[in-house]
Amino acid sequence: MAREIIGIVGAGIMGRGIAQLFTQVGHVVRLHDSRDGAAGAGRTYVLAMLDKLEAKGAMSADDRRAAEGRLSTVPSLSDLSGCTLIIEAIVEELEAKRSLFAALEGIVGDDCLLASNTSSLTVSDIAAGCRRPERVAGLHFFNPVPLMKLAEVIPGLLTDAAVTDRLLALVSGTGHRAVLAADQPGFLVNHAGRALYTEGLRLLEEGAATVPEIDRTLRETLGFRMGPFELLDLTGLDVSGKVMQSIYEQFQHEPRYRPSSLIPPRLAAGLYGRKTGRGFYPYADGVKQEPAEPPPPPARAGTAWVAEGDGADALRALLSAGGAELRDDPSTADILFVLPWGEDVTAAAVRARLDARRLVGVDPLGGLTGRLVLMASPATDPVLVDRAHGWLAATGRAVTRMQDSPGFIGQRVLAMIVNTGCEIAQRGIATPADIDAAVRLGLGYPRGPLEWGDLVGPARVLSILERLLAITGDPRYRPSPYLRRRALLGLSLREG
Ligand SMILES: NC(=O)c1ccc[n+]([C@@H]2O[C@H](COP(=O)([O-])OP(=O)(O)OC[C@H]3O[C@@H](n4cnc5c(N)ncnc54)[C@H](O)[C@@H]3O)[C@@H](O)[C@H]2O)c1
Repeated sequence: MAREIIGIVGAGIMGRGIAQLFTQVGHVVRLHDSRDGAAGAGRTYVLAMLDKLEAKGAMSADDRRAAEGRLSTVPSLSDLSGCTLIIEAIVEELEAKRSLFAALEGIVGDDCLLASNTSSLTVSDIAAGCRRPERVAGLHFFNPVPLMKLAEVIPGLLTDAAVTDRLLALVSGTGHRAVLAADQPGFLVNHAGRALYTEGLRLLEEGAATVPEIDRTLRETLGFRMGPFELLDLTGLDVSGKVMQSIYEQFQHEPRYRPSSLIPPRLAAGLYGRKTGRGFYPYADGVKQEPAEPPPPPARAGTAWVAEGDGADALRALLSAGGAELRDDPSTADILFVLPWGEDVTAAAVRARLDARRLVGVDPLGGLTGRLVLMASPATDPVLVDRAHGWLAATGRAVTRMQDSPGFIGQRVLAMIVNTGCEIAQRGIATPADIDAAVRLGLGYPRGPLEWGDLVGPARVLSILERLLAITGDPRYRPSPYLRRRALLGLSLREG
C-alpha cells in the first residue's frame, strides 16, 4: 500500500473518525479546522481511541506510538501543501466546500486529489468550482467511521477514472468495503434507505397500525435491529426529515421517495426524537418508553377454515394448537382465514367470494415462523377477530393485530426495499454486489435488497407490488423495470 499524506479539513465527528481510520493503517494525517482548538481536540480524541485499542490488545504499544507520530494538526490551510490527498469534512454547505477546494487548488500540487465527505450535495456541483474538476470525487464515510466498515466512492461527471481507482484502493487498504456509486441523489446508501422510512410513514398515515406495532413487527418478522420510527428518533427528525425532503426534490418528485405529511407538524412541534426527549416515542433519561402490548384475548371454542396457499398447513397447525376446531368447508366454520400476498382482506374476500364478516388474514411472509400478523377487513366482526387473535396467542406466539392494508406491514416494506435496490441497479448507480454490501454495512439491514428479493422470489415481489399498485393507485408502488424483467425471465436479481 502506498503511503499517502492525507490532509483532513474539518475535525468534527466525521473528520476525526476519518483521521483515526487512516492513521491506524499507516498513512500520514494532517488535521486542520478553521475553529480555534478544534483540530487539537480532534487529535486528542483520536489518541484516546488508540489508547482504548491498545488497552484492549487490538493494537501494540509500538504501533500506537508510531500512529501518534503520524497524526499532526496544522494551524493553516497552506500547511497542507505537501499532501497527496485532501478529504474535506466541513459544514454541509455548497459554497463553503466550493471555496475551500478553490483555496486548496492554490496550495496543493497538481497530483493531489480532493475528496469530499458530503452526504447530500452533488459531487459535480462541488467540483464545478474547481480549476481541475477531474481530480475531485466524493468519499463518503459513515458515523462512527472506524466501526462502519463502508465508504462510497463517488466520481463526479468530470472525475478521472484513475482518481476513482486510487480512492477505491485507498479505502480497501483500510479494511473497509469500498463501493462505487454514481453522482445521484443520496448516492447509494441514502438512496437505498428511502424505502423503510417512507413505507413505515405510509402505513402510519393510512392508520394501518400504530408506531410501536409497525416497529415491533418489522423487528420481529424481517429481523431489523430497529424499526423506521426508532431510527427516525435516533437520527433526529430535524436531520432525517431534511434528507427525506432533499432526496425527493433532487429526484424531481419521484413518488417512490415521497416524504410524509406527518413530518412538518412534528418538526414544528419540536418532536425530533431522542435529542428533544420526545419523537415518535417519549424518552425518559434518553431511554425509549415503548408502551406494553395489551394482553391478548382468551382463546375461546369455535371453528375455523383456512384457505389453501403458502403457510396454510402451518396456520392450521397453529390454530388447532390454539384451541380452534378445523373445518374443511368454509360454510361450516365460524372464522375463515386467508394468507394473502399483496392484497388486503377486502380484496381477498371479493376475489375468493368469501364472507367478509367472518374473514381474517394472516401474513404468510417468513412462513409464519416469527411474530404473527393478523389483519381484518372493515366488515369483519370484531368478536371474531378477538377469537382468531386468542387462538394464535394461545400458542405462545406474539401477535400484531392491524387494520386492512394490502401487503400487511412486512410484505409492503420488503417489496419497497427490493424495488428501490432494483431501481438503483436499473439506473446504473451501483452494481448488484455493491448495492447488497452497502445496504448490509451502511444501513445494518439483515440482508441486501437484491439478495432479499431473490430469497422471497422476484416473481413474488413483483406480484406484491402490482397488487399494491392496483389497490392503492399510487405510482410509488410501480415495479422497477429491472425487477419486472428478471421476474418474468426467471433470473436472479443479482445478475446485473
Ligand atoms: N455526522 C454524520 O453522521 C455524517 C455522516 C456522513 C457524512 N457527513 C458529512 O460530513 C461533513 C462533516 O460532518 P460532521 O458531522 O463531522 O460535522 P461537524 O459539525 O461535527 O464538524 C464540522 C467541522 O468542520 C469545521 N469547519 C466548518 N467549516 C470549515 C471550514 N471552512 N474550514 C475548516 N473547517 C471548517 C467546524 O469547525 C467543525 O469542527 C458534512 O459534509 C456532513 O454532511 C456527516
